[in-house]
Amino acid sequence: MRITGWSRATAAEAAPLAALFRRIEAVAPVGLEQRAEDVRNRLATLGPDNAGRTRVGRDDTDTVAAYGEVADMGTADDVLRIRLTSAFHPEVADDVRSELHHWLIDQARQLRDDRGSVKAVLGTRCAENDRAGRERLISDGFAVVRHQRDLVLAVPDSPPAPVLPPGLVLTPVDERYDELARLAHNEAYADSSAALRPDRRTWPQHATAHPGFLPDLSCLLLAETQPSDNPVAAFLFALTDGSTDTPTALLHCLGTRAPWRRGGLATAMISHVLHQAHSAGIRQLRLEVTDSNHQALALYRKLGFVESGRGFAVLMRQLTPEADEQP
Ligand SMILES: CC(C)(COP(=O)(O)OP(=O)(O)OC[C@H]1O[C@@H](n2cnc3c(N)ncnc32)[C@H](O)[C@@H]1OP(=O)(O)O)[C@@H](O)C(=O)NCCC(=O)NCCS
Repeated sequence: MRITGWSRATAAEAAPLAALFRRIEAVAPVGLEQRAEDVRNRLATLGPDNAGRTRVGRDDTDTVAAYGEVADMGTADDVLRIRLTSAFHPEVADDVRSELHHWLIDQARQLRDDRGSVKAVLGTRCAENDRAGRERLISDGFAVVRHQRDLVLAVPDSPPAPVLPPGLVLTPVDERYDELARLAHNEAYADSSAALRPDRRTWPQHATAHPGFLPDLSCLLLAETQPSDNPVAAFLFALTDGSTDTPTALLHCLGTRAPWRRGGLATAMISHVLHQAHSAGIRQLRLEVTDSNHQALALYRKLGFVESGRGFAVLMRQLTPEADEQP
């Protein structure tokens, strides 16, 4: 299959892109959105200055058959993180895939330069069964850094009541705690090289300003007496998830700061989410977890989460000026 024209993605393409993503997810899953509404949200989270870093390819029947996107995922430790997405109808020819890949790398360089960053790291997803795609990335300097598991839990008819240790209060995500929640988030994820640690600029789109944000299913646990200045002991942010036909909420990020770990806080927050989900008619919780995150995997296994079969590999590559100069 050939691509006869490329254009920038707009909200008007959300429905045909969702159709393309459904087709791809059926054969080589990487966690792409399946509903037009979620694709629209995805495009909205790129922000106006990144909208130009998208590309929609159409075949000779004017059907959307390819998509490319470069997204700014924030800066951590002076390194700009850039997510590359390329999605193709299964019959799209190899040279089209290579052409889009090179376009994405060029756009990523421009994004790095626009942000005034010297160092950037590129990350992209590849379906576990997409050997050719993985080889293509590896030959361009990418390396597999982790495998993401995709886990689901059916919402029971009578979810267990949340049990909170004394001295902790469960509260909805409140704008008064926005910056403290960000700091708690980044502290909880400090040891996890794979996790995003948003700065002030990118935090809103990661959390409450994310178009899929579900306030009723998100929560903070506040400590009444604290071993630190920040009362946010634990946090959970949930998003709408249109990746399956079952009404589903995505546990987007959740964590407990180190002093409070193994006290049942994550368990309590997930019990709370199950209650809220049940009342809202949501039938399933879903999340992605790195296969090296043994404590989180132990938590989810204990709570009954199971593999959905939609896990994928994550590959990364440095994007430094020195790397640019290499042939
Ligand atoms: C994973 C994490 C959220 C767990 O939070 P928590 O509040 O300590 O979890 P809980 O106390 O509710 O633990 C419940 C169960 O999970 C398992 N578990 C949690 N931490 C564990 C650890 N370090 N080692 C082994 N099992 C662990 C245990 O089965 C535990 O039950 P037990 O204490 O009765 O044995 C926390 O370690 C964390 O914030 N990690 C960094 C951020 C992160 O990885 N988030 C998840 C991203 S997908």
